[in-house]
Amino acid sequence: MVKLNGKKINTAVFISGRGSNLKSLIKFSKKKRSPISIKLVVSNNSKAKGLIHAKSFKIKTFFVNYKNINISEKKILKILLKHKIELILLAGFMKILSSNFIKKFKKPILNIHPSLLPKYKGLNTHKRVLEKKEKFSGSTVHLVTPNLDSGKIILQRKVKILKNTNEKNLEKKILKLEHNLYPEAIKKFLFNF
Ligand code: GRF
Repeated sequence: MVKLNGKKINTAVFISGRGSNLKSLIKFSKKKRSPISIKLVVSNNSKAKGLIHAKSFKIKTFFVNYKNINISEKKILKILLKHKIELILLAGFMKILSSNFIKKFKKPILNIHPSLLPKYKGLNTHKRVLEKKEKFSGSTVHLVTPNLDSGKIILQRKVKILKNTNEKNLEKKILKLEHNLYPEAIKKFLFNF
């Protein structure tokens, strides 16, 4: 739980690509009663489409090349401190944050993962779900800990997998759900977790 004291929480969103969740988070942050204000978007990919959304909303962006994880994380921590960031939202960020980074940041870090955790941690989720002929899949917002996709679950939603669904359709269906799920999870986490 984070202390709100009536003011919005300085938030950084970390991305690596498309940034559709970032887009929905920006929309959410602009609502009058939203508890977050997005001050910074961090990316390990200078060509991430999401950076264009950030720039179009005049949100500061920070690119870090990740050639060396220690140096990169030090640079990120420095800019987070400069912008007084109190909450990190990972939204399609394809790098794993070290336990040292998580310890040093001290504040909450949330992630959205496109599966019904604890099932299907890691990459290629939709492909693995379909191969196992699951009847349901979904998405989960959870706290980030040093163990991949394993922190406390904040909110989870499921979708039914229709017959003959392919990876692309399932991804699309889950993404749509995520755009509401992440804001809902943030509210739950900040107001009554
Ligand atoms: C989402 O499905 C999210 O769950 C996962 O990566 C994807 C990012 O998509 N962690 P986008 O970049 O937000 O469109």
